[in-house]
Amino acid sequence: MKAIVQHAYGSTDTLHLREIDRPVPRADEVLVEVRAAGVDPSVWHLMTGRPYIARLSPQLGVRRPAHTVRGWDAAGRVEAVGAEVTAFKPGDEVFGQCDGSFAEYACGKAEQLAAKPASLTFEQAAALPVSGVTALQGLDVARPRPGQKVLVIGASGGVGTYAVQLAAHYGAEVTGVCGPGAAELVASLGATHVIDYTREDITARSVRYDFVLDSAGNRSLSRLRRVLAPRGTVVFVGGENAGPVLGGLDRWVRGLVLSAFVGQRFRPLFAVTRQQDLLTLKALVEAGAIAPVVDRAYPLAEAADAVRHLEKGHPRGKLVVTI
Ligand SMILES: NC(=O)c1ccc[n+]([C@@H]2O[C@H](COP(=O)([O-])OP(=O)(O)OC[C@H]3O[C@@H](n4cnc5c(N)ncnc54)[C@H](OP(=O)(O)O)[C@@H]3O)[C@@H](O)[C@H]2O)c1
Repeated sequence: MKAIVQHAYGSTDTLHLREIDRPVPRADEVLVEVRAAGVDPSVWHLMTGRPYIARLSPQLGVRRPAHTVRGWDAAGRVEAVGAEVTAFKPGDEVFGQCDGSFAEYACGKAEQLAAKPASLTFEQAAALPVSGVTALQGLDVARPRPGQKVLVIGASGGVGTYAVQLAAHYGAEVTGVCGPGAAELVASLGATHVIDYTREDITARSVRYDFVLDSAGNRSLSRLRRVLAPRGTVVFVGGENAGPVLGGLDRWVRGLVLSAFVGQRFRPLFAVTRQQDLLTLKALVEAGAIAPVVDRAYPLAEAADAVRHLEKGHPRGKLVVTI
Protein backbone atom coordinates (compact mmCIF):
# COMPACT_ATOMS: atom_id res chain seq x y z
CA MET A 1 0.00 0.00 0.00
CA LYS A 2 1.03 3.66 -0.39
CA ALA A 3 1.90 5.61 2.78
CA ILE A 4 3.71 8.74 3.94
CA VAL A 5 6.75 7.36 5.74
CA GLN A 6 9.37 9.04 7.92
CA HIS A 7 12.53 7.44 9.39
CA ALA A 8 14.18 10.49 10.99
CA TYR A 9 12.84 13.55 12.81
CA GLY A 10 13.03 16.78 10.83
CA SER A 11 11.21 19.07 8.43
CA THR A 12 8.64 18.10 5.80
CA ASP A 13 11.65 16.98 3.67
CA THR A 14 11.74 13.83 5.83
CA LEU A 15 8.24 12.77 4.64
CA HIS A 16 8.27 10.35 1.69
CA LEU A 17 5.57 8.56 -0.28
CA ARG A 18 6.52 4.86 -0.16
CA GLU A 19 5.08 1.43 -0.91
CA ILE A 20 4.95 -0.58 2.34
CA ASP A 21 3.15 -3.61 3.76
CA ARG A 22 -0.45 -3.23 4.88
CA PRO A 23 -0.69 -3.22 8.71
CA VAL A 24 -2.33 -6.18 10.45
CA PRO A 25 -4.88 -5.38 13.19
CA ARG A 26 -4.25 -6.64 16.72
CA ALA A 27 -7.10 -8.38 18.58
CA ASP A 28 -8.61 -5.07 19.80
CA GLU A 29 -7.97 -3.15 16.57
CA VAL A 30 -9.75 -2.36 13.32
CA LEU A 31 -8.06 -2.16 9.91
CA VAL A 32 -9.49 0.86 8.10
CA GLU A 33 -9.31 1.57 4.38
CA VAL A 34 -8.54 5.26 4.84
CA ARG A 35 -10.44 7.67 2.60
CA ALA A 36 -9.32 10.89 4.31
CA ALA A 37 -6.92 11.85 7.09
CA GLY A 38 -6.87 15.02 9.19
CA VAL A 39 -3.79 17.23 9.46
CA ASP A 40 -3.21 18.98 12.77
CA PRO A 41 -0.27 20.10 14.93
CA SER A 42 0.14 16.59 16.39
CA VAL A 43 1.41 15.56 12.94
CA TRP A 44 4.00 18.35 13.14
CA HIS A 45 5.08 17.29 16.66
CA LEU A 46 5.44 13.66 15.57
CA MET A 47 7.36 14.77 12.45
CA THR A 48 9.83 17.09 14.21
CA GLY A 49 10.06 15.31 17.56
CA ARG A 50 9.48 18.69 19.21
CA PRO A 51 9.14 19.76 21.93
CA TYR A 52 11.89 17.35 22.98
CA ILE A 53 10.12 16.38 26.21
CA ALA A 54 7.40 14.77 24.05
CA ARG A 55 9.99 12.18 22.87
CA LEU A 56 9.64 10.53 26.29
CA SER A 57 6.14 9.45 25.23
CA PRO A 58 5.87 5.99 23.61
CA GLN A 59 4.11 7.62 20.64
CA LEU A 60 7.36 9.32 19.60
CA GLY A 61 10.73 7.73 20.43
CA VAL A 62 13.85 9.43 21.79
CA ARG A 63 16.18 9.39 18.77
CA ARG A 64 13.92 8.57 15.83
CA PRO A 65 10.17 8.18 15.23
CA ALA A 66 8.89 5.03 16.95
CA HIS A 67 6.07 4.88 14.40
CA THR A 68 7.15 5.56 10.85
CA VAL A 69 3.85 6.38 9.14
CA ARG A 70 2.47 9.86 9.88
CA GLY A 71 -1.14 10.87 10.48
CA TRP A 72 -3.64 10.26 13.30
CA ASP A 73 -7.14 11.40 12.36
CA ALA A 74 -8.91 9.09 9.93
CA ALA A 75 -12.20 8.45 8.18
CA GLY A 76 -12.82 5.46 5.97
CA ARG A 77 -14.31 1.97 5.61
CA VAL A 78 -13.62 -1.00 7.84
CA GLU A 79 -11.56 -3.57 5.93
CA ALA A 80 -11.06 -6.15 8.71
CA VAL A 81 -11.40 -6.44 12.49
CA GLY A 82 -9.29 -8.08 15.21
CA ALA A 83 -10.49 -11.21 17.02
CA GLU A 84 -11.95 -9.31 20.00
CA VAL A 85 -13.78 -6.60 18.02
CA THR A 86 -17.54 -7.01 17.87
CA ALA A 87 -18.68 -3.38 17.41
CA PHE A 88 -17.60 -3.09 13.75
CA LYS A 89 -17.69 -5.23 10.62
CA PRO A 90 -16.10 -4.92 7.17
CA GLY A 91 -17.78 -2.21 5.10
CA ASP A 92 -18.79 0.01 8.05
CA GLU A 93 -17.97 3.70 7.57
CA VAL A 94 -16.00 4.96 10.58
CA PHE A 95 -14.04 7.95 11.86
CA GLY A 96 -11.60 8.34 14.71
CA GLN A 97 -7.96 7.86 15.53
CA CYS A 98 -5.68 5.46 13.66
CA ASP A 99 -1.94 5.21 13.93
CA GLY A 100 -0.42 6.19 10.58
CA SER A 101 -3.50 7.48 8.76
CA PHE A 102 -1.52 9.08 5.89
CA ALA A 103 -1.82 5.72 4.14
CA GLU A 104 -4.20 3.59 2.13
CA TYR A 105 -4.82 1.41 5.22
CA ALA A 106 -4.30 2.06 8.93
CA CYS A 107 -5.12 0.33 12.22
CA GLY A 108 -6.93 1.97 15.11
CA LYS A 109 -8.19 0.67 18.45
CA ALA A 110 -11.92 -0.11 18.23
CA GLU A 111 -12.44 2.05 21.34
CA GLN A 112 -11.02 5.06 19.43
CA LEU A 113 -13.36 4.72 16.44
CA ALA A 114 -17.10 5.32 15.91
CA ALA A 115 -19.64 5.17 13.09
CA LYS A 116 -19.15 8.12 10.74
CA PRO A 117 -21.95 10.73 10.78
CA ALA A 118 -23.88 9.88 7.60
CA SER A 119 -24.28 13.55 6.67
CA LEU A 120 -20.51 14.17 6.53
CA THR A 121 -18.16 13.42 3.66
CA PHE A 122 -15.03 11.43 4.50
CA GLU A 123 -13.02 14.69 4.31
CA GLN A 124 -15.30 16.40 6.84
CA ALA A 125 -15.34 13.35 9.13
CA ALA A 126 -11.52 13.18 9.08
CA ALA A 127 -11.44 16.79 10.31
CA LEU A 128 -13.41 15.91 13.43
CA PRO A 129 -11.63 13.46 15.80
CA VAL A 130 -8.53 15.04 17.42
CA SER A 131 -9.63 18.68 17.22
CA GLY A 132 -13.29 18.01 18.04
CA VAL A 133 -12.49 15.75 21.00
CA THR A 134 -9.96 18.31 22.30
CA ALA A 135 -12.52 21.13 22.17
CA LEU A 136 -15.16 18.93 23.81
CA GLN A 137 -12.90 17.74 26.63
CA GLY A 138 -11.45 21.25 27.09
CA LEU A 139 -14.87 22.83 27.57
CA ASP A 140 -15.94 19.96 29.84
CA VAL A 141 -13.30 21.00 32.40
CA ALA A 142 -15.75 23.71 33.49
CA ARG A 143 -18.71 23.44 31.10
CA PRO A 144 -19.80 27.06 30.44
CA ARG A 145 -23.32 27.89 31.56
CA PRO A 146 -25.76 29.98 29.49
CA GLY A 147 -24.80 33.63 29.57
CA GLN A 148 -21.25 33.07 30.83
CA LYS A 149 -18.44 34.83 28.99
CA VAL A 150 -16.07 32.51 27.14
CA LEU A 151 -12.83 33.52 25.42
CA VAL A 152 -11.47 31.16 22.76
CA ILE A 153 -7.84 31.97 21.91
CA GLY A 154 -6.98 30.47 18.50
CA ALA A 155 -10.62 30.58 17.35
CA SER A 156 -10.01 30.00 13.62
CA GLY A 157 -7.84 26.89 14.12
CA GLY A 158 -8.66 23.20 14.26
CA VAL A 159 -9.55 23.14 17.96
CA GLY A 160 -10.86 26.73 18.09
CA THR A 161 -13.47 26.33 15.34
CA TYR A 162 -15.09 23.50 17.34
CA ALA A 163 -14.66 25.28 20.68
CA VAL A 164 -16.47 28.41 19.42
CA GLN A 165 -19.36 26.31 18.08
CA LEU A 166 -19.63 24.19 21.25
CA ALA A 167 -19.47 27.16 23.65
CA ALA A 168 -22.15 28.97 21.60
CA HIS A 169 -24.25 25.77 21.63
CA TYR A 170 -23.99 25.69 25.45
CA GLY A 171 -25.44 29.22 25.46
CA ALA A 172 -22.27 31.11 26.39
CA GLU A 173 -21.40 34.57 25.08
CA VAL A 174 -18.33 33.74 23.00
CA THR A 175 -15.40 35.97 22.10
CA GLY A 176 -13.08 34.48 19.50
CA VAL A 177 -9.43 35.52 19.08
CA CYS A 178 -8.00 34.95 15.61
CA GLY A 179 -5.67 36.41 13.00
CA PRO A 180 -6.45 38.83 10.14
CA GLY A 181 -9.03 37.66 7.64
CA ALA A 182 -10.71 35.07 9.87
CA ALA A 183 -13.20 37.32 11.69
CA GLU A 184 -16.11 36.54 9.38
CA LEU A 185 -15.62 32.79 9.75
CA VAL A 186 -15.34 32.96 13.55
CA ALA A 187 -18.48 35.11 13.80
CA SER A 188 -20.33 32.67 11.53
CA LEU A 189 -19.46 29.86 13.98
CA GLY A 190 -21.29 31.65 16.79
CA ALA A 191 -18.85 34.16 18.29
CA THR A 192 -20.55 37.38 19.40
CA HIS A 193 -17.25 39.27 19.49
CA VAL A 194 -14.11 38.69 17.43
CA ILE A 195 -10.64 40.06 18.22
CA ASP A 196 -7.72 40.16 15.79
CA TYR A 197 -4.68 39.29 17.90
CA THR A 198 -2.36 41.18 15.53
CA ARG A 199 -4.25 44.45 16.20
CA GLU A 200 -5.31 44.21 19.83
CA ASP A 201 -3.74 42.95 23.05
CA ILE A 202 -6.57 40.84 24.42
CA THR A 203 -5.14 40.94 27.95
CA ALA A 204 -5.43 44.76 28.00
CA ARG A 205 -9.24 44.59 27.85
CA SER A 206 -11.49 45.50 30.75
CA VAL A 207 -13.83 42.51 30.16
CA ARG A 208 -13.51 39.53 32.54
CA TYR A 209 -14.16 36.03 31.16
CA ASP A 210 -15.56 33.08 33.11
CA PHE A 211 -13.76 30.59 30.91
CA VAL A 212 -10.72 30.86 28.62
CA LEU A 213 -9.76 28.10 26.21
CA ASP A 214 -6.12 28.89 25.44
CA SER A 215 -4.86 27.13 22.32
CA ALA A 216 -2.39 29.72 20.97
CA GLY A 217 -0.08 32.58 21.82
CA ASN A 218 1.55 31.43 25.10
CA ARG A 219 0.46 34.52 27.02
CA SER A 220 1.86 34.80 30.53
CA LEU A 221 -0.19 33.75 33.55
CA SER A 222 -0.23 37.31 34.88
CA ARG A 223 -1.65 38.61 31.59
CA LEU A 224 -4.28 35.88 31.42
CA ARG A 225 -5.29 36.59 35.03
CA ARG A 226 -6.12 40.18 34.06
CA VAL A 227 -8.98 39.05 31.79
CA LEU A 228 -10.16 36.16 33.97
CA ALA A 229 -13.12 36.49 36.36
CA PRO A 230 -12.19 36.05 40.05
CA ARG A 231 -13.40 32.43 39.99
CA GLY A 232 -12.82 31.85 36.28
CA THR A 233 -11.05 28.92 34.60
CA VAL A 234 -8.30 28.83 31.97
CA VAL A 235 -7.82 25.54 30.13
CA PHE A 236 -4.41 25.23 28.51
CA VAL A 237 -4.74 23.34 25.24
CA GLY A 238 -1.62 24.31 23.33
CA GLY A 239 0.32 26.99 21.56
CA GLU A 240 3.26 26.71 19.22
CA ASN A 241 6.59 28.60 19.53
CA ALA A 242 6.79 28.01 23.29
CA GLY A 243 10.35 26.69 23.19
CA PRO A 244 11.90 23.53 21.70
CA VAL A 245 12.44 21.67 24.98
CA LEU A 246 9.31 22.01 27.14
CA GLY A 247 6.94 23.53 24.57
CA GLY A 248 5.12 25.59 27.20
CA LEU A 249 4.70 22.75 29.72
CA ASP A 250 6.44 24.90 32.36
CA ARG A 251 3.66 27.53 32.03
CA TRP A 252 1.04 24.81 32.47
CA VAL A 253 2.73 23.54 35.67
CA ARG A 254 3.08 27.09 37.04
CA GLY A 255 -0.63 27.60 36.34
CA LEU A 256 -1.55 24.46 38.28
CA VAL A 257 0.56 25.56 41.25
CA LEU A 258 -0.88 29.08 41.14
CA SER A 259 -4.44 27.64 41.20
CA ALA A 260 -3.78 26.34 44.74
CA PHE A 261 -3.31 29.92 46.00
CA VAL A 262 -5.86 32.01 44.07
CA GLY A 263 -9.58 31.74 43.23
CA GLN A 264 -8.85 31.44 39.52
CA ARG A 265 -8.15 27.98 38.09
CA PHE A 266 -5.56 27.00 35.46
CA ARG A 267 -5.95 23.48 34.10
CA PRO A 268 -3.82 21.66 31.51
CA LEU A 269 -5.57 19.42 28.99
CA PHE A 270 -4.16 16.19 27.58
CA ALA A 271 -6.97 15.10 25.29
CA VAL A 272 -7.47 11.39 24.65
CA THR A 273 -9.70 10.17 21.83
CA ARG A 274 -12.47 8.02 23.31
CA GLN A 275 -15.38 6.40 21.50
CA GLN A 276 -17.88 8.04 23.84
CA ASP A 277 -16.61 11.49 22.85
CA LEU A 278 -16.68 10.60 19.15
CA LEU A 279 -20.31 9.53 19.57
CA THR A 280 -21.09 12.83 21.36
CA LEU A 281 -19.52 14.74 18.44
CA LYS A 282 -21.51 12.62 15.97
CA ALA A 283 -24.75 13.46 17.81
CA LEU A 284 -23.84 17.17 17.86
CA VAL A 285 -23.15 17.08 14.09
CA GLU A 286 -26.44 15.29 13.45
CA ALA A 287 -28.30 17.86 15.61
CA GLY A 288 -26.74 20.66 13.55
CA ALA A 289 -24.92 22.07 16.61
CA ILE A 290 -21.41 21.77 15.12
CA ALA A 291 -19.93 21.29 11.66
CA PRO A 292 -16.33 20.72 10.59
CA VAL A 293 -14.62 23.60 8.78
CA VAL A 294 -12.36 22.17 6.08
CA ASP A 295 -9.99 24.71 4.56
CA ARG A 296 -8.45 22.50 1.89
CA ALA A 297 -7.87 18.87 0.90
CA TYR A 298 -4.56 17.57 -0.47
CA PRO A 299 -3.94 14.26 -2.27
CA LEU A 300 -1.80 11.73 -0.33
CA ALA A 301 1.26 12.37 -2.50
CA GLU A 302 1.13 16.04 -1.43
CA ALA A 303 0.82 15.38 2.32
CA ALA A 304 4.09 17.27 2.92
CA ASP A 305 2.53 20.37 1.28
CA ALA A 306 -0.43 20.04 3.67
CA VAL A 307 1.94 20.04 6.67
CA ARG A 308 3.79 23.07 5.21
CA HIS A 309 0.42 24.82 4.85
CA LEU A 310 -0.33 24.05 8.50
CA GLU A 311 3.09 25.44 9.55
CA LYS A 312 2.97 28.69 7.61
CA GLY A 313 -0.29 29.07 5.70
CA HIS A 314 -2.71 30.10 8.49
CA PRO A 315 -5.41 27.57 7.52
CA ARG A 316 -8.99 28.29 8.51
CA GLY A 317 -10.28 25.24 10.36
CA LYS A 318 -8.72 21.99 9.21
CA LEU A 319 -6.61 20.64 6.39
CA VAL A 320 -7.16 17.08 5.23
CA VAL A 321 -5.35 14.54 3.08
CA THR A 322 -7.48 12.44 0.76
CA ILE A 323 -6.56 8.90 -0.21
N1 LIG B 1 -3.68 19.47 24.80
C1 LIG B 1 -4.12 18.64 23.86
O1 LIG B 1 -4.53 17.51 24.14
C2 LIG B 1 -4.11 19.12 22.43
C3 LIG B 1 -4.89 18.50 21.44
C4 LIG B 1 -4.90 19.03 20.15
C5 LIG B 1 -4.11 20.14 19.85
N2 LIG B 1 -3.32 20.67 20.83
C6 LIG B 1 -2.51 21.88 20.58
O2 LIG B 1 -3.39 22.98 20.55
C7 LIG B 1 -2.87 23.99 19.71
C8 LIG B 1 -3.94 24.40 18.70
O3 LIG B 1 -4.23 23.32 17.85
P1 LIG B 1 -5.03 23.59 16.51
O4 LIG B 1 -5.25 22.29 15.83
O5 LIG B 1 -6.21 24.44 16.78
O6 LIG B 1 -3.94 24.43 15.70
P2 LIG B 1 -4.16 25.39 14.44
O7 LIG B 1 -5.20 24.80 13.55
O8 LIG B 1 -2.81 25.67 13.90
O9 LIG B 1 -4.80 26.72 15.06
C9 LIG B 1 -4.08 27.64 15.81
C10 LIG B 1 -4.87 28.93 15.81
O10 LIG B 1 -4.27 29.89 16.69
C11 LIG B 1 -4.22 31.16 16.03
N3 LIG B 1 -3.12 31.92 16.60
C12 LIG B 1 -1.80 31.88 16.28
N4 LIG B 1 -1.10 32.72 17.07
C13 LIG B 1 -2.00 33.30 17.90
C14 LIG B 1 -1.90 34.26 18.93
N5 LIG B 1 -0.73 34.81 19.27
N6 LIG B 1 -3.01 34.64 19.58
C15 LIG B 1 -4.22 34.12 19.26
N7 LIG B 1 -4.39 33.19 18.28
C16 LIG B 1 -3.29 32.80 17.60
C17 LIG B 1 -4.03 30.81 14.59
O11 LIG B 1 -4.47 31.88 13.76
P3 LIG B 1 -3.59 32.32 12.48
O12 LIG B 1 -3.34 31.06 11.70
O13 LIG B 1 -4.46 33.29 11.77
O14 LIG B 1 -2.33 32.92 13.02
C18 LIG B 1 -4.92 29.58 14.44
O15 LIG B 1 -6.26 29.95 14.22
C19 LIG B 1 -1.61 23.41 19.08
O16 LIG B 1 -0.49 23.87 19.83
C20 LIG B 1 -1.77 21.91 19.27
O17 LIG B 1 -0.52 21.24 19.33
C21 LIG B 1 -3.31 20.20 22.09
